[in-house]
Amino acid sequence: LQVLAVASEVFPLIKTGGLADVVGGLPPALAHHGVEVRTLVPGYPSVLRALEGTTVVAEYGYFFGAFCKLLAGRAAGLDLFVLEAPQLFWREGNPYSAPDGQPWPDNPVRFAALAHMGYLISRGDFGPYVPDVLHVHDWQAALAPAYLHYGGRTKPRSVLTIHNLAFQGQFSRDLLYAIGLPGHAYSMDGVEYYGGIGYLKAGIRFADRVTTVSPRYAAEICQPGAGMGLDGTLRQKGLALSGIVNGIDVDTWNPADDPALAASYTADTLELRARNKAALEGRFNLEAGDGPLIGMITRLSWQKGMDIVIETLPSIIAAGCRVVVLGTGDAPLEAGLAKAAAAYPGKIGVFAGYDENLAHLVQGGADAILVPSRFEPCGLTQLYGLRYGCLPIVSRVGGLFDTVIDANAAAREQGVATGIQFEPVTREALEAAIARFVALYADTSAWRAMQRQAMSLDLSWTRRAGAYAALFRSLVEVDSA
Ligand code: ADP
Ligand code: GLC
Repeated sequence: LQVLAVASEVFPLIKTGGLADVVGGLPPALAHHGVEVRTLVPGYPSVLRALEGTTVVAEYGYFFGAFCKLLAGRAAGLDLFVLEAPQLFWREGNPYSAPDGQPWPDNPVRFAALAHMGYLISRGDFGPYVPDVLHVHDWQAALAPAYLHYGGRTKPRSVLTIHNLAFQGQFSRDLLYAIGLPGHAYSMDGVEYYGGIGYLKAGIRFADRVTTVSPRYAAEICQPGAGMGLDGTLRQKGLALSGIVNGIDVDTWNPADDPALAASYTADTLELRARNKAALEGRFNLEAGDGPLIGMITRLSWQKGMDIVIETLPSIIAAGCRVVVLGTGDAPLEAGLAKAAAAYPGKIGVFAGYDENLAHLVQGGADAILVPSRFEPCGLTQLYGLRYGCLPIVSRVGGLFDTVIDANAAAREQGVATGIQFEPVTREALEAAIARFVALYADTSAWRAMQRQAMSLDLSWTRRAGAYAALFRSLVEVDSA
């Protein structure tokens, strides 16, 4: 079975969040299930620099206002198509925003071009390659199923995976012709969305199947509120909407063999984590000690609940914890964290930046990973935490709900507990969760048992990818039946 994936980021070539991890992790895992994936990504500088064995598949003098080439090649073990269009994608840094943090004004055209190329490949313009299924990720690729529809195609069948409903790609209706859609596409039953064009809405409307990255989130987004304006469109999908929890790359994230750690370890050598904790204390200028150390690795945004954490930091410190935060994002949150770190020297350490190796050290050295999100489609940091015995303290939403088992009396008795859940996302509830954490942590043998349980889970993509493979097959089998 051949699948064409289309996405705006892919680990390790370009990453702003979990989307890249998923787009990079799924193809090798799907190969174990007999599914061959090729991934179409934009020709950012970092992608073009990494591409090997490059061939030019096609060349256009004018494509969405730009000169462009479709390249094929390999990078980081992945089979790629790359849309090389220097005017659109030759920009260093964040793929979506300018150095001043504002979205690039031409984003609607850039990602319509990406989706349109996905459409051209999937309808067989560059035969002999014709995919059986088109798999698009998030709003940046979501127009591709709409292009198929308005191009009069029913094949290949398409799947849209929503990683985050908060990013919807809503743009002016004036763009309709510029992005190659016909006039009649502008209707409620088409791509129209609150008076503009909704890229994600179009994908939901026209993809044969829609998935999100956890079952709980799939249910949540059908409700007003969590549905962020799209709940009606999502409810209409009925059984064509489902949730598949993300896997993780268990080679990149392997505490038994991790060059970013001061000491690699297994569930049988948990005492070695102390060396990573010491290294972490050094990196963040924390006072040394055996007391509980909480880590956070996160985009700093409303979604991630950092404002509540900042408010709660004094009580977290008073409860005897130290805290390290690795994160970038909203300026007021960065400022709030810097202020807290200055007020509690030796207790709170903050690194305002993006650092993949440091993320590994936090997971390998901290005792708990705090993820107090207001909503969380899946969340990967808590999964990495489980794998590293850095037990998650999470809000009870979305993928956090689905992947962490709260240490209540029954779960502990059964030996299945792997972390702490709390709700709602308020200072009071977080304080209570921290108090539970401190008490559990003090009971060393209970804590160790939970760490071993968490580390024994199979979180690999190899297992999770089976659900995607089954979904893709079901679509193709419907056609051949
Ligand atoms: P989201 O995609 O919503 O940001 P996820 O939990 O799914 O949340 O994925 C976040 C990914 O980004 C993880 O791989 C995490 O380790 C990484 N990450 C986030 N912030 C940073 C940072 N400042 N430095 C390094 N890695 C980070
Ligand atoms: C999004 C979500 C996150 C999810 C990731 C990968 O960025 O916010 O919850 O884990 O995509 O699917």
